[in-house]
Amino acid sequence: MNNFSFLNDKPEYRNFSKDCIDAEKAFKSSYDSCVKLVRTALDAAIKWVYSTDKNFSPANDNLYDLISNKTFERAIGKDLADKLHNCRKAGNAAIHNEKEFSADEARQCLKNLFDFVQWLDNRYGKNFKPRTFNDDKNILQTEICGIKLNTPIFAASGTFGFGEEFENFVDLKRLGGVMVKCITPKPRRGNDGVRITETPSGMLNCIGLENPGVENFLSKILPRIKDKMNVVVNVSGSSVEDYAKLAELLDADGVAAIELNISCPNVKDGGIIFGTDERQAAKVTNAAKKSTRKPVIVKLSPNVTDITKIARACESAGADCLSLINTLMGMEINIQTWRPTLGNITGGLSGGAIKPVALRMVWQVANAVKVPIIGMGGIRSASDAIEFFLAGASAVAIGTANFAEPSITMKIADDLEKYIKSCGLSNIREIIGKVKSC
Ligand SMILES: Cc1cc2nc3c(=O)[nH]c(=O)nc-3n(C[C@H](O)[C@H](O)[C@H](O)COP(=O)(O)O)c2cc1C
Repeated sequence: MNNFSFLNDKPEYRNFSKDCIDAEKAFKSSYDSCVKLVRTALDAAIKWVYSTDKNFSPANDNLYDLISNKTFERAIGKDLADKLHNCRKAGNAAIHNEKEFSADEARQCLKNLFDFVQWLDNRYGKNFKPRTFNDDKNILQTEICGIKLNTPIFAASGTFGFGEEFENFVDLKRLGGVMVKCITPKPRRGNDGVRITETPSGMLNCIGLENPGVENFLSKILPRIKDKMNVVVNVSGSSVEDYAKLAELLDADGVAAIELNISCPNVKDGGIIFGTDERQAAKVTNAAKKSTRKPVIVKLSPNVTDITKIARACESAGADCLSLINTLMGMEINIQTWRPTLGNITGGLSGGAIKPVALRMVWQVANAVKVPIIGMGGIRSASDAIEFFLAGASAVAIGTANFAEPSITMKIADDLEKYIKSCGLSNIREIIGKVKSC
């Protein structure tokens, strides 16, 4: 790892630099000793800050109180303060032999210590150069509704089949998860006629929720895919009872979460009625929540005047997470035949063209609710995804772009990792909701 060696060149940090380097060395021989030494180093570093910076006045010598000191906490940020408390708790447990630590736990403690030392060097160091913790594997790791994600990148429902179709292009485990094609109570053959047409920077679709139905999904498909990825099952029904029943049936081994599609614009009974009326949206959410122990994600429709009203209604009804946006209702007319191109007349617009609308809605919803948001709509690159994180999304989903480039999710993950490193940050979470005002 060798992260703390830069402290050797900074005699001003001699009060704590040896402790930091010792903690890092101990990682190679004993995780418990490492955690103990992290606590020693951390305490010394905090005391150094208090002795150096007259802005922070200690009420007493108690390390817990020093971290909780309001001025200190405001300076380092709540996140980092929490990390320091966690490190000290772990250190205490190690000192009292209350538990044995794993490599991951010890690494996390070291990383928290490093984050603090980096903050400190940033504030007090001369000739400061940003450094990142040399532990790349953690840069994109995050969590949503208690689900561990290797990256905050999902594949959006309806654009990625059941995930297995993409096995040759994508390391499925590297995705946060796959939102599989919408499942309904009974099998559906979808709409007749033309179902897809390309538009400037996007596409219109009116697939009409073609799927094998929940029974076939549970008996034939889920057993095949459940160990390959985090499976998020997108569901749609034509009544509140349908959603409740689907949520109950899908409370099954191998289902990571259930995504309620209350926003499909392409079929009369495809949920859109629930997604455009806040009382109906709340009813469906509540019914699904009562019927399952799985996290419930509610997928919002952009085809409304004020999306924040629906978002708040779903949050109050118990939604664990919101995903947005589904497609925007659109239409195309063939000027040779004077008929609509699509068999369903209208269809859902997706792809690059809708990104500004999606981003605006994610930003509005992030300012209206506390539950996490999975942002989607027109994301084609890491820069697009970064905009969604800054606007307040905790994760993103990629849809239409998978058709043009089936391995696009992996490229976005690679570029996202490079971006976070180039900012001198250690985890994607550090940019969530960080858009600044004008
Ligand atoms: C062909 C196609 C099929 C889709 N099917 C579903 C679906 O079954 N359930 C759903 O919730 N969203 C469905 N969507 C919407 C996408 O999941 C996503 O919300 C939307 O396309 C916006 O993202 P994008 O611009 O990255 O594609 C579908 C989109 C497309 C293009």
